[in-house]
Amino acid sequence: MRVSCIIFSVFLPNSVIASCLERLTHGYRLDNFTTEIISNIGVHTCIKECLLRKPHCQSINYNIQHFLCGLNSREDEDIELEGVPDYNSIFANVVTDSLQSLGKCKEVVCQPLHKCVTTQFTEVCISTACSNGTYGKDGQCLPCPAGQYNDGSKQWCSFCPPGRYNNKTGSSSCRRCPNGTYNTLHGQTTLDSCVPCSPGTYQSKSGQRKCLNCPWNSYQDQKGQASCKLCSNLSQCVNEERTECHTLPKHVKRMGYDGYNEGDKNKPQCKKACREKLDCVGFTVSPEDNSTCYTHTRFRLTQSTSTNFYEFPSGCHP
Ligand SMILES: *[C@@H]1O[C@H](CO)[C@@H](O)[C@H](O)[C@H]1NC(C)=O
Ligand SMILES: *[C@@H]1O[C@H](CO)[C@@H](O)[C@H](O)[C@H]1NC(C)=O
Ligand SMILES: *[C@@H]1O[C@H](CO)[C@@H](O)[C@H](O)[C@H]1NC(C)=O
Ligand SMILES: *[C@@H]1O[C@H](CO)[C@@H](O)[C@H](O)[C@H]1NC(C)=O
Ligand SMILES: *[C@@H]1O[C@H](CO)[C@@H](O)[C@H](O)[C@H]1NC(C)=O
Ligand SMILES: *[C@@H]1O[C@H](CO)[C@@H](O)[C@H](O)[C@H]1NC(C)=O
Repeated sequence: MRVSCIIFSVFLPNSVIASCLERLTHGYRLDNFTTEIISNIGVHTCIKECLLRKPHCQSINYNIQHFLCGLNSREDEDIELEGVPDYNSIFANVVTDSLQSLGKCKEVVCQPLHKCVTTQFTEVCISTACSNGTYGKDGQCLPCPAGQYNDGSKQWCSFCPPGRYNNKTGSSSCRRCPNGTYNTLHGQTTLDSCVPCSPGTYQSKSGQRKCLNCPWNSYQDQKGQASCKLCSNLSQCVNEERTECHTLPKHVKRMGYDGYNEGDKNKPQCKKACREKLDCVGFTVSPEDNSTCYTHTRFRLTQSTSTNFYEFPSGCHP
Protein backbone atom coordinates (compact mmCIF):
# COMPACT_ATOMS: atom_id res chain seq x y z
CA MET A 1 0.00 0.00 0.00
CA ARG A 2 2.94 2.23 0.78
CA VAL A 3 4.06 1.94 -2.83
CA SER A 4 0.68 2.94 -4.17
CA CYS A 5 0.63 5.96 -1.83
CA ILE A 6 3.89 7.11 -3.30
CA ILE A 7 2.56 6.69 -6.78
CA PHE A 8 -0.61 8.49 -5.82
CA SER A 9 1.30 11.40 -4.43
CA VAL A 10 2.60 12.04 -7.92
CA PHE A 11 -0.92 12.90 -8.97
CA LEU A 12 -2.28 14.32 -5.76
CA PRO A 13 -1.17 17.96 -5.79
CA ASN A 14 -4.28 19.91 -6.85
CA SER A 15 -5.98 16.66 -7.54
CA VAL A 16 -8.37 15.73 -4.75
CA ILE A 17 -11.44 17.70 -5.58
CA ALA A 18 -14.28 18.68 -3.34
CA SER A 19 -16.81 15.94 -3.52
CA CYS A 20 -19.39 17.29 -5.89
CA LEU A 21 -20.71 14.22 -7.53
CA GLU A 22 -23.13 12.73 -5.04
CA ARG A 23 -25.32 11.68 -7.90
CA LEU A 24 -22.73 9.20 -9.10
CA THR A 25 -23.50 5.60 -8.26
CA HIS A 26 -20.44 3.41 -8.18
CA GLY A 27 -20.53 -0.22 -9.22
CA TYR A 28 -23.52 -0.19 -11.56
CA ARG A 29 -24.32 0.39 -15.19
CA LEU A 30 -27.52 0.67 -17.17
CA ASP A 31 -27.61 -1.74 -20.07
CA ASN A 32 -29.51 -1.55 -23.35
CA PHE A 33 -29.81 2.24 -23.66
CA THR A 34 -26.28 3.33 -24.60
CA THR A 35 -26.41 5.25 -27.87
CA GLU A 36 -22.82 6.43 -28.07
CA ILE A 37 -19.47 5.55 -26.52
CA ILE A 38 -16.68 8.11 -26.23
CA SER A 39 -13.18 6.89 -25.43
CA ASN A 40 -10.50 8.36 -23.26
CA ILE A 41 -12.29 11.14 -21.39
CA GLY A 42 -12.87 11.79 -17.70
CA VAL A 43 -16.22 11.37 -15.99
CA HIS A 44 -16.86 15.10 -15.83
CA THR A 45 -16.32 15.52 -19.52
CA CYS A 46 -18.59 12.54 -20.01
CA ILE A 47 -21.37 14.33 -18.12
CA LYS A 48 -20.75 17.48 -20.15
CA GLU A 49 -20.99 15.50 -23.38
CA CYS A 50 -24.29 14.11 -22.15
CA LEU A 51 -25.59 17.56 -21.31
CA LEU A 52 -24.65 18.74 -24.79
CA ARG A 53 -26.87 15.99 -26.19
CA LYS A 54 -29.97 16.74 -24.15
CA PRO A 55 -32.67 15.52 -24.45
CA HIS A 56 -31.24 12.54 -26.31
CA CYS A 57 -28.85 11.77 -23.47
CA GLN A 58 -30.37 11.19 -20.04
CA SER A 59 -27.70 9.29 -18.12
CA ILE A 60 -24.17 7.97 -18.38
CA ASN A 61 -22.26 4.79 -17.71
CA TYR A 62 -18.61 5.55 -17.08
CA ASN A 63 -15.98 2.80 -17.16
CA ILE A 64 -13.22 3.79 -14.75
CA GLN A 65 -10.80 1.14 -15.99
CA HIS A 66 -10.82 2.11 -19.65
CA PHE A 67 -12.09 5.71 -19.34
CA LEU A 68 -15.03 4.92 -21.59
CA CYS A 69 -18.03 7.19 -21.52
CA GLY A 70 -21.34 5.59 -22.48
CA LEU A 71 -24.22 7.98 -23.21
CA ASN A 72 -27.66 6.56 -22.43
CA SER A 73 -30.93 7.62 -23.98
CA ARG A 74 -32.81 6.89 -20.75
CA GLU A 75 -32.42 7.76 -17.09
CA ASP A 76 -32.94 5.30 -14.33
CA GLU A 77 -34.95 5.91 -11.14
CA ASP A 78 -33.21 3.24 -9.09
CA ILE A 79 -30.03 1.98 -10.71
CA GLU A 80 -29.22 -0.30 -7.80
CA LEU A 81 -32.46 -2.12 -8.43
CA GLU A 82 -32.60 -2.08 -12.23
CA GLY A 83 -28.96 -1.78 -13.22
CA VAL A 84 -26.26 -4.37 -13.77
CA PRO A 85 -23.59 -4.65 -11.02
CA ASP A 86 -20.20 -3.75 -12.53
CA TYR A 87 -17.20 -3.00 -10.33
CA ASN A 88 -15.60 -0.82 -12.99
CA SER A 89 -18.63 1.27 -13.79
CA ILE A 90 -20.11 4.51 -12.54
CA PHE A 91 -23.69 5.42 -13.33
CA ALA A 92 -25.20 8.89 -13.19
CA ASN A 93 -28.51 10.38 -14.14
CA VAL A 94 -27.67 13.59 -15.91
CA VAL A 95 -30.09 16.32 -14.95
CA THR A 96 -30.08 19.89 -16.20
CA ASP A 97 -28.54 21.37 -13.05
CA SER A 98 -25.56 19.08 -13.30
CA LEU A 99 -23.56 21.80 -15.01
CA GLN A 100 -23.76 23.90 -11.87
CA SER A 101 -22.46 21.16 -9.62
CA LEU A 102 -19.78 20.40 -12.16
CA GLY A 103 -18.46 23.88 -11.56
CA LYS A 104 -16.66 22.66 -8.46
CA CYS A 105 -15.07 19.83 -10.38
CA LYS A 106 -13.80 21.66 -13.41
CA GLU A 107 -11.01 19.80 -15.09
CA VAL A 108 -9.11 23.08 -15.04
CA VAL A 109 -7.90 22.24 -11.55
CA CYS A 110 -5.86 19.46 -13.02
CA GLN A 111 -2.44 20.31 -14.31
CA PRO A 112 -1.76 20.21 -18.03
CA LEU A 113 -1.73 16.68 -19.41
CA HIS A 114 -3.86 15.49 -16.48
CA LYS A 115 -7.55 14.85 -16.33
CA CYS A 116 -10.08 14.51 -13.55
CA VAL A 117 -11.16 10.93 -13.09
CA THR A 118 -13.44 9.53 -10.44
CA THR A 119 -12.19 6.35 -8.87
CA GLN A 120 -14.09 4.22 -6.40
CA PHE A 121 -12.96 6.32 -3.44
CA THR A 122 -12.11 9.78 -4.66
CA GLU A 123 -11.62 12.06 -7.62
CA VAL A 124 -8.06 12.37 -8.80
CA CYS A 125 -6.19 14.01 -11.59
CA ILE A 126 -4.49 11.26 -13.47
CA SER A 127 -1.81 11.74 -16.02
CA THR A 128 -3.15 11.64 -19.55
CA ALA A 129 0.39 10.67 -20.36
CA CYS A 130 0.35 7.27 -18.73
CA SER A 131 2.65 6.69 -21.59
CA ASN A 132 5.59 4.67 -22.80
CA GLY A 133 4.67 1.26 -21.61
CA THR A 134 2.16 1.96 -18.86
CA TYR A 135 -1.58 2.30 -18.48
CA GLY A 136 -3.73 4.24 -16.07
CA LYS A 137 -5.74 2.38 -13.48
CA ASP A 138 -7.21 3.82 -10.28
CA GLY A 139 -4.94 6.83 -10.55
CA GLN A 140 -1.74 4.90 -11.06
CA CYS A 141 0.35 4.13 -14.07
CA LEU A 142 0.92 0.39 -14.21
CA PRO A 143 3.22 -1.44 -16.63
CA CYS A 144 1.68 -2.98 -19.75
CA PRO A 145 1.65 -6.80 -19.60
CA ALA A 146 3.74 -8.81 -22.06
CA GLY A 147 2.08 -9.01 -25.46
CA GLN A 148 0.82 -5.45 -25.09
CA TYR A 149 2.20 -1.94 -25.50
CA ASN A 150 1.39 1.72 -25.07
CA ASP A 151 3.16 4.18 -27.34
CA GLY A 152 1.91 7.05 -25.21
CA SER A 153 -1.07 7.88 -27.42
CA LYS A 154 -3.63 6.17 -25.17
CA GLN A 155 -4.30 5.57 -21.51
CA TRP A 156 -4.43 1.83 -21.89
CA CYS A 157 -2.26 -0.84 -23.40
CA SER A 158 -3.07 -2.32 -26.78
CA PHE A 159 -2.36 -5.85 -27.92
CA CYS A 160 0.60 -6.22 -30.24
CA PRO A 161 -0.76 -6.45 -33.79
CA PRO A 162 -0.19 -9.49 -36.02
CA GLY A 163 3.40 -9.60 -37.26
CA ARG A 164 4.69 -8.47 -33.86
CA TYR A 165 5.20 -9.72 -30.35
CA ASN A 166 6.37 -8.44 -27.00
CA ASN A 167 8.23 -10.62 -24.52
CA LYS A 168 8.52 -8.11 -21.68
CA THR A 169 6.24 -5.95 -19.56
CA GLY A 170 6.12 -2.15 -19.63
CA SER A 171 6.79 -1.73 -23.34
CA SER A 172 6.08 1.26 -25.51
CA SER A 173 6.27 -0.78 -28.70
CA CYS A 174 6.22 -4.37 -29.90
CA ARG A 175 9.07 -6.24 -31.50
CA ARG A 176 8.76 -7.09 -35.15
CA CYS A 177 8.84 -10.67 -36.32
CA PRO A 178 12.14 -10.96 -38.24
CA ASN A 179 12.11 -11.04 -42.03
CA GLY A 180 11.49 -14.55 -43.31
CA THR A 181 8.80 -15.05 -40.62
CA TYR A 182 5.23 -13.95 -39.89
CA ASN A 183 2.45 -14.34 -37.35
CA THR A 184 -1.29 -13.84 -37.64
CA LEU A 185 -2.38 -13.34 -34.03
CA HIS A 186 -2.74 -10.32 -31.75
CA GLY A 187 -1.02 -10.10 -28.36
CA GLN A 188 1.83 -12.53 -28.89
CA THR A 189 4.44 -12.77 -26.13
CA THR A 190 7.36 -14.73 -27.61
CA LEU A 191 9.69 -14.70 -30.58
CA ASP A 192 8.54 -18.28 -31.12
CA SER A 193 5.16 -16.90 -32.21
CA CYS A 194 6.88 -15.78 -35.42
CA VAL A 195 6.39 -18.63 -37.89
CA PRO A 196 9.05 -19.23 -40.55
CA CYS A 197 7.83 -18.80 -44.14
CA SER A 198 7.37 -22.21 -45.72
CA PRO A 199 9.49 -23.23 -48.73
CA GLY A 200 8.15 -21.62 -51.92
CA THR A 201 7.39 -18.41 -50.03
CA TYR A 202 9.40 -15.51 -48.62
CA GLN A 203 9.07 -12.28 -46.62
CA SER A 204 11.63 -9.54 -47.14
CA LYS A 205 10.15 -7.20 -44.50
CA SER A 206 10.02 -7.61 -40.74
CA GLY A 207 6.77 -7.31 -38.77
CA GLN A 208 4.50 -9.00 -41.31
CA ARG A 209 1.33 -11.05 -40.98
CA LYS A 210 1.93 -13.31 -43.98
CA CYS A 211 4.55 -14.55 -46.40
CA LEU A 212 4.46 -14.03 -50.16
CA ASN A 213 4.72 -16.58 -52.95
CA CYS A 214 8.05 -16.52 -54.75
CA PRO A 215 7.64 -14.36 -57.87
CA TRP A 216 7.69 -15.68 -61.40
CA ASN A 217 10.88 -17.53 -62.30
CA SER A 218 12.10 -17.77 -58.74
CA TYR A 219 11.94 -20.43 -56.03
CA GLN A 220 12.87 -21.12 -52.42
CA ASP A 221 13.82 -24.58 -51.21
CA GLN A 222 14.32 -23.56 -47.55
CA LYS A 223 11.94 -22.27 -44.90
CA GLY A 224 12.20 -18.92 -43.13
CA GLN A 225 13.79 -17.00 -45.98
CA ALA A 226 13.71 -13.28 -46.77
CA SER A 227 14.02 -13.69 -50.53
CA CYS A 228 13.71 -16.24 -53.32
CA LYS A 229 16.37 -17.58 -55.65
CA LEU A 230 16.33 -16.76 -59.33
CA CYS A 231 15.58 -19.55 -61.78
CA SER A 232 15.38 -17.43 -64.86
CA ASN A 233 17.79 -19.00 -67.32
CA LEU A 234 16.29 -20.29 -70.51
CA SER A 235 17.21 -23.82 -69.55
CA GLN A 236 15.60 -23.69 -66.11
CA CYS A 237 12.10 -23.69 -64.72
CA VAL A 238 10.36 -23.68 -61.33
CA ASN A 239 8.06 -26.44 -60.10
CA GLU A 240 4.46 -25.81 -59.13
CA GLU A 241 5.26 -25.42 -55.40
CA ARG A 242 8.07 -22.96 -56.23
CA THR A 243 10.45 -25.07 -54.14
CA GLU A 244 12.79 -26.34 -56.87
CA CYS A 245 14.54 -25.05 -59.94
CA HIS A 246 14.62 -27.69 -62.67
CA THR A 247 17.08 -27.67 -65.51
CA LEU A 248 15.32 -28.05 -68.84
CA PRO A 249 17.07 -30.68 -70.95
CA LYS A 250 17.90 -29.37 -74.39
CA HIS A 251 17.55 -32.42 -76.61
CA VAL A 252 19.79 -32.07 -79.60
CA LYS A 253 18.50 -35.33 -81.11
CA ARG A 254 14.83 -34.57 -80.66
CA MET A 255 12.54 -32.11 -82.32
CA GLY A 256 9.12 -30.86 -81.46
CA TYR A 257 6.10 -31.25 -83.70
CA ASP A 258 2.40 -30.46 -83.47
CA GLY A 259 1.54 -27.41 -81.43
CA TYR A 260 1.44 -23.72 -81.93
CA ASN A 261 3.32 -20.94 -83.60
CA GLU A 262 3.44 -18.33 -80.85
CA GLY A 263 4.81 -15.64 -83.14
CA ASP A 264 7.71 -13.41 -82.29
CA LYS A 265 8.84 -14.02 -78.76
CA ASN A 266 12.22 -13.90 -77.12
CA LYS A 267 13.45 -17.00 -75.30
CA PRO A 268 12.12 -16.27 -71.81
CA GLN A 269 8.72 -15.35 -73.28
CA CYS A 270 8.67 -18.58 -75.28
CA LYS A 271 9.47 -20.63 -72.17
CA LYS A 272 6.65 -18.85 -70.39
CA ALA A 273 4.23 -19.54 -73.24
CA CYS A 274 5.05 -23.26 -72.96
CA ARG A 275 4.71 -23.26 -69.20
CA GLU A 276 1.25 -21.75 -69.45
CA LYS A 277 -0.02 -24.56 -71.70
CA LEU A 278 -1.05 -27.80 -70.03
CA ASP A 279 -0.21 -29.92 -73.11
CA CYS A 280 3.14 -28.32 -73.92
CA VAL A 281 6.05 -30.78 -73.85
CA GLY A 282 8.68 -28.33 -75.02
CA PHE A 283 9.41 -25.35 -77.17
CA THR A 284 11.60 -24.30 -80.05
CA VAL A 285 13.07 -20.88 -80.51
CA SER A 286 14.10 -20.13 -84.05
CA PRO A 287 17.91 -20.10 -84.11
CA GLU A 288 18.05 -17.64 -87.01
CA ASP A 289 16.52 -14.60 -85.41
CA ASN A 290 16.12 -15.75 -81.79
CA SER A 291 12.49 -14.69 -81.96
CA THR A 292 10.00 -17.05 -83.63
CA CYS A 293 8.62 -19.30 -80.93
CA TYR A 294 6.89 -22.67 -81.27
CA THR A 295 5.29 -24.56 -78.43
CA HIS A 296 4.91 -28.29 -79.08
CA THR A 297 2.45 -30.90 -77.91
CA ARG A 298 4.66 -33.82 -79.04
CA PHE A 299 8.24 -34.53 -80.02
CA ARG A 300 10.04 -37.14 -82.07
CA LEU A 301 13.57 -38.38 -82.36
CA THR A 302 15.74 -37.02 -85.10
CA GLN A 303 19.30 -37.43 -86.31
CA SER A 304 19.80 -33.71 -86.41
CA THR A 305 22.12 -32.28 -83.80
CA SER A 306 21.20 -28.70 -84.48
CA THR A 307 17.58 -28.29 -83.34
CA ASN A 308 16.75 -25.85 -80.58
CA PHE A 309 14.11 -27.98 -78.90
CA TYR A 310 13.82 -27.56 -75.11
CA GLU A 311 11.96 -30.37 -73.38
CA PHE A 312 9.80 -29.09 -70.56
CA PRO A 313 9.86 -31.26 -67.40
CA SER A 314 6.34 -32.18 -66.30
CA GLY A 315 6.96 -30.78 -62.80
CA CYS A 316 7.25 -27.33 -64.33
CA HIS A 317 3.70 -27.11 -65.49
CA PRO A 318 1.51 -24.63 -63.68
C1 LIG B 1 -30.79 -5.83 -21.80
O1 LIG B 1 -29.44 -6.32 -21.64
C2 LIG B 1 -29.37 -7.57 -21.00
C3 LIG B 1 -27.90 -7.90 -20.84
O2 LIG B 1 -27.33 -7.04 -19.95
C4 LIG B 1 -30.10 -8.62 -21.82
O3 LIG B 1 -30.05 -9.86 -21.15
C5 LIG B 1 -31.53 -8.19 -22.03
O4 LIG B 1 -32.17 -9.09 -22.89
C6 LIG B 1 -31.60 -6.80 -22.64
N1 LIG B 1 -32.99 -6.35 -22.72
C7 LIG B 1 -33.47 -5.76 -23.83
C8 LIG B 1 -34.92 -5.34 -23.76
O5 LIG B 1 -32.79 -5.55 -24.80
C1 LIG C 1 8.30 8.17 -24.66
O1 LIG C 1 9.19 7.75 -25.68
C2 LIG C 1 9.46 8.71 -26.65
C3 LIG C 1 10.31 8.08 -27.73
O2 LIG C 1 10.90 6.90 -27.29
C4 LIG C 1 10.14 9.91 -26.00
O3 LIG C 1 10.39 10.90 -26.97
C5 LIG C 1 9.27 10.45 -24.91
O4 LIG C 1 9.96 11.49 -24.23
C6 LIG C 1 8.90 9.38 -23.93
N1 LIG C 1 7.96 9.92 -22.98
C7 LIG C 1 8.06 9.74 -21.67
C8 LIG C 1 6.99 10.34 -20.84
O5 LIG C 1 8.98 9.07 -21.19
C1 LIG D 1 13.01 -10.93 -25.65
O1 LIG D 1 13.37 -11.46 -26.90
C2 LIG D 1 14.60 -10.93 -27.41
C3 LIG D 1 14.79 -11.47 -28.80
O2 LIG D 1 14.72 -12.86 -28.81
C4 LIG D 1 15.73 -11.31 -26.45
O3 LIG D 1 16.93 -10.73 -26.92
C5 LIG D 1 15.41 -10.80 -25.06
O4 LIG D 1 16.39 -11.25 -24.15
C6 LIG D 1 14.05 -11.27 -24.59
N1 LIG D 1 13.72 -10.64 -23.33
C7 LIG D 1 13.09 -11.28 -22.35
C8 LIG D 1 12.77 -10.50 -21.15
O5 LIG D 1 12.77 -12.45 -22.46
C1 LIG E 1 16.69 -9.66 -43.28
O1 LIG E 1 17.14 -9.28 -42.00
C2 LIG E 1 18.55 -9.43 -41.84
C3 LIG E 1 18.87 -9.14 -40.39
O2 LIG E 1 18.31 -7.93 -40.01
C4 LIG E 1 19.27 -8.49 -42.81
O3 LIG E 1 20.66 -8.65 -42.68
C5 LIG E 1 18.84 -8.82 -44.22
O4 LIG E 1 19.39 -7.88 -45.11
C6 LIG E 1 17.34 -8.80 -44.35
N1 LIG E 1 16.96 -9.30 -45.67
C7 LIG E 1 16.18 -8.61 -46.49
C8 LIG E 1 15.89 -9.25 -47.82
O5 LIG E 1 15.70 -7.54 -46.21
C1 LIG F 1 22.34 -18.87 -66.00
O1 LIG F 1 23.18 -20.00 -65.98
C2 LIG F 1 24.58 -19.67 -66.00
C3 LIG F 1 25.36 -20.95 -66.12
O2 LIG F 1 24.73 -21.98 -65.43
C4 LIG F 1 24.93 -18.88 -64.76
O3 LIG F 1 26.30 -18.53 -64.78
C5 LIG F 1 24.10 -17.64 -64.71
O4 LIG F 1 24.34 -16.94 -63.49
C6 LIG F 1 22.63 -18.00 -64.77
N1 LIG F 1 21.86 -16.79 -64.85
C7 LIG F 1 20.80 -16.61 -64.07
C8 LIG F 1 20.10 -15.31 -64.24
O5 LIG F 1 20.43 -17.44 -63.27
C1 LIG G 1 20.94 -15.74 -81.30
O1 LIG G 1 21.48 -15.93 -80.00
C2 LIG G 1 22.75 -16.55 -79.96
C3 LIG G 1 23.15 -16.77 -78.50
O2 LIG G 1 22.05 -16.73 -77.67
C4 LIG G 1 23.77 -15.68 -80.69
O3 LIG G 1 25.02 -16.36 -80.73
C5 LIG G 1 23.26 -15.41 -82.09
O4 LIG G 1 24.12 -14.49 -82.73
C6 LIG G 1 21.86 -14.84 -82.10
N1 LIG G 1 21.36 -14.68 -83.43
C7 LIG G 1 20.78 -13.57 -83.88
C8 LIG G 1 20.34 -13.61 -85.31
O5 LIG G 1 20.61 -12.61 -83.15
